Amino acid sequence: MSLFQSIEQIKEQFSKEISGEFDFEQLKVKYLGRKGLVAGLFQQMGGLTSDERPKAGKLLNELKLELTSEIEKLAVDSSVTDESTADSFDYTMPGDPQPVGAIHPLTQVLEEIKSIFNRLGFSVAYGPEVDTDFYNFEALNIPKHHPARDMQDTFYVKKDVVLRTHTSNSQIHNMLKHDPPVKIIAPGRVYRNEDISVRSYCLFHQIEGLYVDKNVTMGDLKGVLDYFAKELYGKDVKTRFRPSYFPFTEPSAEMDVSCIFCKGKGCNICKYAGWLEILGCGMVDPEVFKSVGYDPEKWTGYAFGLGIERIAMLKYGVEDIRLFYEGDIRFLRQF
Ligand code: DAH
Repeated sequence: MSLFQSIEQIKEQFSKEISGEFDFEQLKVKYLGRKGLVAGLFQQMGGLTSDERPKAGKLLNELKLELTSEIEKLAVDSSVTDESTADSFDYTMPGDPQPVGAIHPLTQVLEEIKSIFNRLGFSVAYGPEVDTDFYNFEALNIPKHHPARDMQDTFYVKKDVVLRTHTSNSQIHNMLKHDPPVKIIAPGRVYRNEDISVRSYCLFHQIEGLYVDKNVTMGDLKGVLDYFAKELYGKDVKTRFRPSYFPFTEPSAEMDVSCIFCKGKGCNICKYAGWLEILGCGMVDPEVFKSVGYDPEKWTGYAFGLGIERIAMLKYGVEDIRLFYEGDIRFLRQF
């Protein structure tokens, strides 16, 4: 077979081979390798006449270029095929969603309340959850055997040491540590030995507020709490103050907001009253000032206390307080 025939034969062989299954690397070595078919033909040029040689050289170079470009094309194609068959992972697809934690609804409400009072110049203070009878009762004008103690069923740790029944103990801690003026809110957990039900739990959360300065009036208290209610529930909300009784404030009041569900028209949540009670408040009783060494002739102040669960239940329409503590992901995911 002449060299010219061999060239044609190799071309044919090559196209036949690539139309079927082939191993790309082997193909490359077989045709273009140092000892490959094309190189073999170049070697045969030695046996040609000097007339034939330039033509053969040209044809062989063309063959080599042709095969090289074919093989390069195959290289590109095969890399595409490889990805879509053997390794079909698409790196541009979004990943599987990973569950992320969320902020507990009570914490969300707490943060919102803190931020409202921060804007009014209140700073945040804390008192202990395990406290003495003095801070939780005595200094707040609730002496032993005072009937007001019955309002709060207390967990005793030992004699004169209690799980605090309200955040009002923070008032005393703060006033004993700082001279007036004082302007704080004190959030935290409180404990009561109550039957567990839809409405009450053995622990819950409160925020205490305390402002002591010269010439503080009930008008200041009403202004601040009205602003708070409107920030929390919206500008259309109305507030009203009803006389009440707490041993540590005189006079004392409870603040209601117009029902946020029926806008005051009356519904089963506000029990057709049109109003919802949200907090207790009043002017700091002079007896409390005396127990922390503030001069009641010189200093005046107001205090308030609200339950975070109650606020959150009204805000989100949660009907069972226990849901806040169960950690049920189906409940928590809704916030
Ligand atoms: N400590 C009261 C309670 O737990 C709430 C309260 C009422 C706090 C009136 C206050 C206040 O500071 O002035 O029921």
